Amino acid sequence: MMHLLVTGGAGFIGGNFIRWMKKNAPEHLIVNVDALTYAGNLESLSDISEDEGYRFVRADIRDRTKMEEIFKTFDITHVVNFAAESHVDRSIVDPEVFLTTNIIGTQVLLDAAKKHWNLAPDDKYSRDYRENVKFLQVSTDEVYGALGKEGMFSETTPLSPNSPYSAAKASADLICRAYSETFGLPVNITRCSNNYGPFQFPEKLIPLMIHNCIKGKSLPVYGDGMQIRDWLHVSDHCSAIYTVLTRGTSGEVYNIGGNNERANIDIVKLIIKTLGAKEELITYVKDRPGHDRRYAIDNTKITTQLGWSPSYTFENGMAETIAWYQNNASWMEHVLSGEYADYYERMYAPSFES
Ligand code: NAD
Ligand code: DAU
Repeated sequence: MMHLLVTGGAGFIGGNFIRWMKKNAPEHLIVNVDALTYAGNLESLSDISEDEGYRFVRADIRDRTKMEEIFKTFDITHVVNFAAESHVDRSIVDPEVFLTTNIIGTQVLLDAAKKHWNLAPDDKYSRDYRENVKFLQVSTDEVYGALGKEGMFSETTPLSPNSPYSAAKASADLICRAYSETFGLPVNITRCSNNYGPFQFPEKLIPLMIHNCIKGKSLPVYGDGMQIRDWLHVSDHCSAIYTVLTRGTSGEVYNIGGNNERANIDIVKLIIKTLGAKEELITYVKDRPGHDRRYAIDNTKITTQLGWSPSYTFENGMAETIAWYQNNASWMEHVLSGEYADYYERMYAPSFES
């Protein structure tokens, strides 16, 4: 049985992962540690908050004393580190918190894991750890930078991040690699493409466009809308993480993706069509600075070596996702109140005025 520390479990993917675990591997203890920033929302987990085998601790992954205490209290054996500042646009406005949370926070967790799992923690040469422990760093395809019309990211593609967000994620990957190489800590890194699905914060493309369509508001498309992302349903990302956590070879990086490249404008038009809205809502706005043109994941390693494959088609996944947002209007309204309302004003008001 794992004593699994899930960081960032009140966010989009972390919350979906906890749900996925409860359904598919309920025997494990899950300790959800989240600072509850603007992106963390416990309402997404309200139906499982009282479950046996689930605990929530509000804490910041940069808090070393607290992280060490959590490892001891729950005798943590596995970590899946989702906690991060995750939105590229915010990283362009205020990069610093991306560096402290995404880099230092990861290093604090690595230290706590090393201290708790190493059989001789005071011996700097010791590479001996308890059996059956693992640190999984949830990274992103954005660490590879941008692609032109051809090619895909493989695990050996050089890191070439372009935004403060992706640079911070790439830095965390390198720290994880260093703890694996220098200290022998059992680490995996996963690099997934863009996720969509229920409970995603509406600052991200798909929930933002669904919400605005439902409300009859403008749909802000950056630049020419021809940027390409490789979309994966969040539930398929969760099954891939569990696969790597339980079967991945320590020290290895695994890309995760479902071979599903789409241009942003086509996604926006699909949402408009599904919701019966009008294309006149589309508003082309100023492009994101340093905007990566195209991402595409080569998933050969995880599919052939670990036998993982996605279960959703994009069509089914999107139909289900759009219906979910239609049926969960109150979740959306609660998320949209407060800090996000101010952010939306600051981010988009000038674009719509011009
Ligand atoms: P999110 O922004 O929805 O959630 C992040 C969570 O982390 C929130 O609950 C927030 O409260 C928490 N958090 C932030 N700072 C913290 C801190 N200092 N201490 C503790 N908790 C903190 O993000 P997401 O979209 O669910 O992404 C989760 C992870 O997956 C991130 O590491 C991201 O880089 C990675 N990722 C995301 C995608 C995607 O498409 N969303 C794709 C690939 C990888
Ligand atoms: O590729 C994985 C990454 O995907 C994750 O690491 C990030 O955490 C996650 O936020 C996501 O990054 P993107 O920048 O690709 O996602 P976002 O939803 O912000 O934007 C998707 C595309 O849509 C991108 O090309 C920018 C564009 N866009 C986005 C918004 C919010 C618009 O055209 N208009 C918008 O209003």
